Amino acid sequence: MTTTESVTPSGHVLRVAVIAGSRRPNRRARAVAEWVCAAAPEGAELSLLDLDEVALPTLAEPNSPAFGGYTLPHTRAWAELIEGFDAYVLVSPEYNHSTSAALKNSLDHLYREWNDKAVAFVGYGVDGGVRAVEHLRGITAELGLAGVGPAVALNVFDDFDEEGHLAPRERQESMRSRMFDSLLRWASALRPLRPAAEHRLTGQRPILHRPTGAGSADDAVRELLDSLQTGLDTGDADLYDSMFAQDVLWGSPYGRVLTGYAPLNAIHRSMMDTPVVATSRYEVVQTSAPSADLVLVHIRRLHLADAPPGGADFSEMAMYVLVRRDGQWWLAAGQNTPIRDKP
Ligand SMILES: Cc1cc2nc3c(=O)[nH]c(=O)nc-3n(C[C@H](O)[C@H](O)[C@H](O)COP(=O)(O)O)c2cc1C
Repeated sequence: MTTTESVTPSGHVLRVAVIAGSRRPNRRARAVAEWVCAAAPEGAELSLLDLDEVALPTLAEPNSPAFGGYTLPHTRAWAELIEGFDAYVLVSPEYNHSTSAALKNSLDHLYREWNDKAVAFVGYGVDGGVRAVEHLRGITAELGLAGVGPAVALNVFDDFDEEGHLAPRERQESMRSRMFDSLLRWASALRPLRPAAEHRLTGQRPILHRPTGAGSADDAVRELLDSLQTGLDTGDADLYDSMFAQDVLWGSPYGRVLTGYAPLNAIHRSMMDTPVVATSRYEVVQTSAPSADLVLVHIRRLHLADAPPGGADFSEMAMYVLVRRDGQWWLAAGQNTPIRDKP
């Protein structure tokens, strides 16, 4: 990724990704993207993202990207990269009257990361890439991107020399300026719609919970609740601890802490073997999903009947942290706090 930056008098910078949208060895996309980046409009930081360097495989996520919950490391890396921009310039060839498979695939991989941002188009081809750009307008609208009107259309005969090197006609530079003017105006206008941008603009605290991650967060919490409840009811410590990660951090109700599944499982086995715990019911109190692979949940454990002789009333409130790794949810940390008197 190559970055050039210029700052407005207010010091406010819009981050724009210029995406080079083809991968053939002798492609024109890279040279066109570099020409786009040479514009350096005031108030924008331009970064060239070359799809040949990103090298995304064909989309193979189990879930629709609209629901988040990306499972593959390359999807997450692409999401993290795209998330960081306010606007995009798609540099697209025309292949068979449409855009390239590489560019379409890179768009299809994500959803939320594109939402409520601005996009502009630089097409090139035998007829200026205009049919590719028209297709891209429909595709990007579906992704919640606002496509600006002014676009650049480079003709392979008129804007490249005989050796195929980029040599744009003079009017292409003014089209490039018009395109950037619209893109930056729209990117700026859309900022308040994006929680992170709103936070940067107003200094307000961000809302960390992401509604797009809520469905899989609920599934993860239900799985945890089931393993705790059934494990306790059947006296099965291994089931109780089945979602605990190898390096789980654990805080007991009375201030003791330990790290790791093995010592914790040994304690839970010995507790289950001796009737020190009263019958309990677990219930979810509140959940937050700050990212697709992270869930924070308060779970209350309510004492239901008298503890056995010599046993304890274990009513407590627990804060659990769940992390998804390779498609599976794990308990990364738990902190339990007594909500009745210590026996
Ligand atoms: C597979 C393929 C299909 C093409 N189809 C069209 C087309 O339908 N219309 C057009 O104007 N140019 C078409 N072209 C010409 C390309 O737009 C032109 O070669 C361009 O440089 C390709 O982009 P790239 O060099 O970044 O790969 C096609 C080229 C390729 C390789």
